[in-house]
Amino acid sequence: MKKEITLAIIKPNATEKKATGKIIDMILEAGFEIKAMKMLHLTKKEAEGFYEVHKDKPFFNDLTDFMSSGPIVVMALEKENAVEDYRKLIGATNPAEAAEGTVRKLFGENIERNAVHGSDSPENGIKEVGYFFSNLEFVN
Ligand code: CMP
Repeated sequence: MKKEITLAIIKPNATEKKATGKIIDMILEAGFEIKAMKMLHLTKKEAEGFYEVHKDKPFFNDLTDFMSSGPIVVMALEKENAVEDYRKLIGATNPAEAAEGTVRKLFGENIERNAVHGSDSPENGIKEVGYFFSNLEFVN
C-alpha cells in the first residue's frame, strides 16, 4: 500500500493539560513517522484560514477563537493508510462518542475542545500540511 501524509494538530486544550508528550508517544507507538513538526500560537486570522471550509458553519467563530487561544503542535505524519489509521487512533470527533483508548476519549472534553485534529482525506492531508509547512521543514 502507498504511503500517505496526514496533518495532525494537538489543540490548545491538550497542550494546556500537558498531554503533548503522551499524544506524540501514542502517534509514534502506532507506527507513524513524524516528517515535520512545530509549535505555534495561531492568530485568529490564521485559524480562520486553516478552517476556511467550515466558514459557514455555526461553530466557526467559537472554533477559531479556541484554536487561537493557546499553543498548538502541528505535525506532518507519514504511514501507509495514514489518514484512516490516524482517524482510528484519535477516535470520533465528539469525545463522548470516541472509542475507549483513543486520543479524543482520553484527552478531549467536548466536540470543540476535542484535543486533536486529523485530515479527512489524502487530498486534504497534502493541502493541510502545505498550510503549515514549507518543503525546507520536512525531514527526508
Ligand atoms: P477538527 O478535526 O479539528 O475539524 C473541525 C472541527 O470543528 C472539529 O474537529 C471540531 O472540533 C469542530 N466541530 C465539528 N462539529 C462541531 C459542532 N457541531 N460544534 C462545535 N464544534 C464542532
